Amino acid sequence: MKLPRLALCRSPHRTADLRADTSPKCSLHLGENKGGMGLQADGFGCMLDYNLALNWPGNQGLAVKGDPMNQKVVPNLEISRVLRSKRDAQVAYDKMSSWYDLLAGSEQFFTDSGIEKLNPIAGETILEIGYGTGQTLVKFAKTVGDSGKVYGIDISEGMSKVARRRVARTGMSSRVILECGDAVSLPFGPDFFDAVFISFTLELFDTPEIPVVLQECNRVINPAGRICVVALAKEEQEGWIAEAYEWMHRKFPKVVDCRPIMAQSSLEAAGFQILDSSRKYMWGLPVDVCVAGKKQPFLQVTMK
Ligand SMILES: C[S@@+](CC[C@H](N)C(=O)[O-])C[C@H]1O[C@@H](n2cnc3c(N)ncnc32)[C@H](O)[C@@H]1O
Repeated sequence: MKLPRLALCRSPHRTADLRADTSPKCSLHLGENKGGMGLQADGFGCMLDYNLALNWPGNQGLAVKGDPMNQKVVPNLEISRVLRSKRDAQVAYDKMSSWYDLLAGSEQFFTDSGIEKLNPIAGETILEIGYGTGQTLVKFAKTVGDSGKVYGIDISEGMSKVARRRVARTGMSSRVILECGDAVSLPFGPDFFDAVFISFTLELFDTPEIPVVLQECNRVINPAGRICVVALAKEEQEGWIAEAYEWMHRKFPKVVDCRPIMAQSSLEAAGFQILDSSRKYMWGLPVDVCVAGKKQPFLQVTMK
């Protein structure tokens, strides 16, 4: 393996985190845990045996040995690909927009749980990706108050029209700014938002696009900001309901369009640090509610 670049990260959530980047797609994390140092490889379902000797100012010569007992092995689960085009997605959501709320009632509990965990406050600037019919936009607008702002981006013009009507009806228009477009490229500057919210939308991006969207989120969130992702979750041991659902997704990708993903490890790979994560079940389908903050800046350390 190529010699990694090592970095020491101090964060309020962990006493020390050592990270080694070997390529843009692979990162190794050395984190302190109860049993000593643990070694983890994101995105690879492999065990690693690693001997590292690290130096950094004030802590000379710590030797770290890869210990299989302390290794957290990330399962290499196969995420289904998205088989429809963006244009098809746009058309489908345009068609669904007028009756979408009837269809998506059962998702509301999970979305509300995400809103609660994101914990928006007055004066904040919040972005919702895939705002749908705008129910969450209105909740955010009420919370941020006159001193805050809520932005949204959604690919469907039909959804956008329904959301605009809802925002106007509830008297929130002055606090809500809506864009219509693809969230792979966010039309906002760096550090613009205090928080980003995505519910039942990250699953609609094809596998190579998920890191792109999350890196865009990382770019637009300010250093103290946070992100909440509510998404169907891929499990190592899928129950029959999840298996049947994925079968339906493969057979009818235009109708059963959301597919289970790994929100938590995708967030971590995009430079976020998980602050809170919980798994719930919707009609037997696992749903993750993850809140994350931006990883703290790294201090460079050198290899011995
Ligand atoms: C399943 S709905 C979820 C709506 C809402 N977040 C909720 O929880 O009820 C997915 C939404 O994401 C939007 N969407 C799909 N692909 C998108 C993309 N590439 N960029 C932005 N929005 C997208 C759809 O138009 C739709 O409104």
